[in-house]
This record gives sequence, C-alpha cells and structure tokens, in this order.
Amino acid sequence: MWKYIKRYLPYAAAAALFMVGEVSMDLVQPGLMSRIVDEGVLGLKAGGGLGLIGTLGLQMIGLALLGGLCGSLNNVFTHISSQNMGNEMRKDAFRRIMSFSFPQMDRFGTGTLVTRVTNDITQIQTFISLFMRGLIRTGMLTFGSIYCMFRLNRDFGLIVLCAFPFAAGCIVLCLWKANPLFSKLQEQLDAINTVMQEDISGVRIIKACVRELYEKARFGQANGALTETQTRVLMIFAFMNPAVNALMYGVIAVILYWGGFQAAAGGVTPGDVMAAVTYTTQLLNGVLMLVMLFQNISRGLASWERVKELLDSEPELKAGGFSGGTKQRGEIEFRDVSFTYPGALRPALEHIDLTIRQGETVAVMGATGCGKTTLVNLIPRFYDATAGAVLVDGVDVRKYRWQALREKVSVTLQKAELFTVPIRENISWGKPGALAEEIASAAKTAQADGFIRAAPEGYDTIVAERGMSLSGGQRQRLSIARAVIKPAEILIFDDSTSALDLKTEAELYQALRESCPGITKLIVAQRIASVRQADRIVVLENGRIAAVGAHQELLAGCKVYQDICRSQVGEEDELV
Ligand SMILES: Nc1ncnc2c1ncn2[C@@H]1O[C@H](COP(=O)(O)OP(=O)(O)O)[C@@H](O)[C@H]1O
Ligand SMILES: [Mg+2]
Repeated sequence: MWKYIKRYLPYAAAAALFMVGEVSMDLVQPGLMSRIVDEGVLGLKAGGGLGLIGTLGLQMIGLALLGGLCGSLNNVFTHISSQNMGNEMRKDAFRRIMSFSFPQMDRFGTGTLVTRVTNDITQIQTFISLFMRGLIRTGMLTFGSIYCMFRLNRDFGLIVLCAFPFAAGCIVLCLWKANPLFSKLQEQLDAINTVMQEDISGVRIIKACVRELYEKARFGQANGALTETQTRVLMIFAFMNPAVNALMYGVIAVILYWGGFQAAAGGVTPGDVMAAVTYTTQLLNGVLMLVMLFQNISRGLASWERVKELLDSEPELKAGGFSGGTKQRGEIEFRDVSFTYPGALRPALEHIDLTIRQGETVAVMGATGCGKTTLVNLIPRFYDATAGAVLVDGVDVRKYRWQALREKVSVTLQKAELFTVPIRENISWGKPGALAEEIASAAKTAQADGFIRAAPEGYDTIVAERGMSLSGGQRQRLSIARAVIKPAEILIFDDSTSALDLKTEAELYQALRESCPGITKLIVAQRIASVRQADRIVVLENGRIAAVGAHQELLAGCKVYQDICRSQVGEEDELV
C-alpha cells in the first residue's frame, strides 16, 4: 500500500499537520474554561472578574475558530489523498485485469473482480481517510486528555487510567469477534454481484423460461447471507458503544464524587473538576472514534488483502520477445498439441498434428464440445497448449510478443461481443483510424452493409448494450466485419456464421474469397454448406483429428463426415 501512499505523502503530511492543530485547540479549551470558572466567576485568584471572563471567552472563541479551520483543511487534504490513492488503485486493478489470461479470468470470476475494483477499493479509501483523520485525532485526544488530567490533578489522572484497560479490553474483544466477518462480508458481496451480473445480462432468458421466482430465490439467498453477516457485525458493535459509554460516565461520576471531596478540602478548584469532566468527555469521544476506526481498519485491511491478491497476480502467460519478423505469411502448425483445461478431468484436445499453409482455407467440423473452439483459441494464445507446440510462420506462439502475435491473427469469437458505441466504431475496432470506405468495404464483405444502411442512422447508429438492438445474425456479421477490416494474415471464424441463412452465408464466403485471397482462413462451422468450399476440412472427434481432406474425399472416406452430411441432407438440397 506504501506504493500508493508514497505518491500522496505531501498531502497526507499536510493533513496530519492540520489535524495536530485541530486537536491542540480542543485540548487547550478545558484549561481556559477552568480559569473562567476559578478566576473569573469564583475570584479564586487576584486579577479576576468580569474583564477576565471576557478576555478568556474571546480567546476560547478564537481558538475554536482556528480549530475549525484546521479541521476543514485536514478534511480537504485527507480527501485529496485518499480519493487519488483509490483512483490510482482502481486504474492499476483495471489494467491488471485487462492483462489477465483467459484461465485467470475464469478462476477469479466476474463477480469478485467487479467487487474488488469497486466496493473493496471504496472500503480502502474510507480506511485511508479515517486512518489519516482518525488515528492522529484519537491518539492525541486520548493521550492528550489523560496527560492534561494528570496535570490538573494526579488523582484524576489515575482514575481515568484505571478505566482505560476496560475500554481497551472491550474494543479488542469486539474486534476479535468481528474480524473474521469482514472477509466473509466481501465474499458475500462477490456472490451477490455474480448473481446480479448473470441475472441482469440474462434477464431475457429468465423471463422466457419463467425462472423469475427461482432467480429471485437465488438472489434472496445471496442477499440474505450478506444481511445476516452485516447484522452480526452491527450487533457486536451495537453492544460495545453503550458499554464504553457507560464506563466513561462511570468515570465522570467518580471524578465528580472525588472532586467534590477534594474541592471541599481545598485540594482542587471547582474549575479543575469541570475541566476534568470535559477531558473525560473528550476521551470518551476519542475512544468511540477509536472503535469506529478499528472497525474500518479491519474492514479496509480485509479489502486490501483482496485487492492486493488482484494487483499481485502476475499475468500467467508470459510473452516472448519475437516481434514478428519480416516474413508475413500466415502459416499455422500444430505439433502434437494436447490441451487440458485447468481442473478438467479429461483433455479437450489430444495429439493434434496439423499444418495449414499460407492462403489456405481450412474448415474445422465436429459435434459440439469436440474441441473446435479450444483448437482455434490456441493460435492467438488465449490458452497455452499443455503439451506440444503451436507455431505461426514457423515460430512458437509463446516466443511472440503479444502485439506481434495478435496483429497476425484476427478472430471472430463464437459469441459476438459488441460495444455500446456507433456501428462504425464497432467495426473500426479491428483497425483503429480506419477510413469510412474501408469500414463500408469490410461491412460489404461481411454482408452487413445492407442492414446497416437501413438502420435509423446508418453507420452512426449506436449499438445497444451488448448488441441487444440487433439480431443474432446481424451481430455476427458486425463482428465478422470487425475481423475482416483488421490487416492480419490469419483469419479465424469460430462458428461465426451459425445464425446466417444459407444464402447470406454463401455470399459472405464468396465475398471473403474475393476480398482477401492471400489470407489464411480457419473456419469453424457446424454446417456442411459452410465448409464444402474449403480447401481442406478437418473433422474433430472428442478432441482428436478423425480425418482431414476436401469435401469429396471426406464424403467418400470418412464415416463421421458422412454421418454429418446425411443429417443435413435437407439443407444440402436447398443449396444445390
Ligand atoms: N473454459 C473452460 N473451462 C473448462 N472446460 C472447458 C472450457 N471451455 C470448454 N471446455 C470444455 O472443453 C471441451 C471442448 O470445448 P469447445 O472447444 O468449446 O467445444 P466446441 O467444439 O463446441 O467449440 C468441452 O468438453 C467443454 O466442456
Ligand atoms: Mg465452440
């Protein structure tokens, strides 16, 4: 955390300085009041009287104003530093999340990442600002009050000192009970965020399947768990505040009783007793604030642990130093590649040997779950092969710089992800700064130009959140346009035309062949119609290559392929 504090140290120091000023004013006040009573009202010393009351009263007002000013300035500097620290932390955390590999992303989960970047960092901010305001204030107020009381009268000092261990014991007990609950609280917040995330983004399917009640119950469960823990924490502290209060009022009673005796015997003045009572009240405030402070410190530290875990997570996949070289070809080679997902029981890919030449169009077919997505994900290194190696242009993908590798490969994911920006920007995402003609040409290749022009504001129409304003096929065509516009040597379509009708799909592939002939194309598809034109078709079965060949070859010799063809025979007829 020091890394963040360090940057705002001057502000923190200024805040501390003003806090010392504020508390000093608070500590001087009871002394002045005591003098007003003793010298001004009771006339215990020569030179007292109304005049002195006026002077001292003005001094008290002046000091109060000065104290107030110091307090405000302390607030200003505290907030500047804590808000900025939180801001830096959020930026770093976000940057870190962006650098995560897919497995890391899978492991953390969206819910907890959202909580960590938002709520946890807010907890840390509160903790930092309370720490800066509170620690000096309570420390000075507590020890200052005790010191001032000893100066007034040794007995008064001893009385407060005796009560102190009880108050401290009370606080320690509560914190000890509440501490484990703070981490739990944040975890339960993760759970709520996960449910919220899923339910809000999946609200359509929830309604379609009439699962509202079930999802309400699921949310209720997560929410109930959070409420219960929250209540338990509050209960613990609900009992502590009155306990500390009672203790301190007990101390005041003892001081009044003892002070009464002493004053009658001439040992102390009534003003001293009054000042002692004020100090005790200040002490009480200090202790109560200390309680709040420790509560927030525990919570802030629990949050810090979680944010630290995020910030300390090194990106798992280390990039190499190869910057792509001059040979721009687009050749892909799988050398005895096997892959098992972290925690999975059986491998998703086994002993894949495959070479794809530059400019070739290769289709990947197979039943769902046979490993098609997994296979293509290894090329841009979304995951690393567990065994064997994937080579692009003869160089292991692990040796590439991220930028170099990802510039060579353009991918359309199975699930078309769009952003809430104009259509134009959604497409030019693939090539920042692309010209309007380039965007239109990519859209034409992707067979998207027609529907974009028909949209209310054409290319400037804003896409609704996650592309909800578009049909599945339109979303797919926009993400294809985004992939096509990118000047890459390898183009990967992961089941990206599944929602298109056969005619549009055929036109799209035709346009693709014409507009980017030299580019290596890897097309994952389910339909024979999508793949029959490919130079070669790879048939996957349970993570292994069952056969490789052109449409006619496979039709003649591959049982799996024949089965797939037979099951789609109706569609085939449609096309012929
Ligand atoms: N992120 C993941 N974590 C664990 N297992 C996964 C993950 N993604 C896919 N799998 C599993 O790997 C296998 C292959 O999946 P995939 O490559 O997506 O199949 P498909 O051929 O339908 O694209 C499936 O059995 C799937 O359950
Ligand atoms: Mg898939």
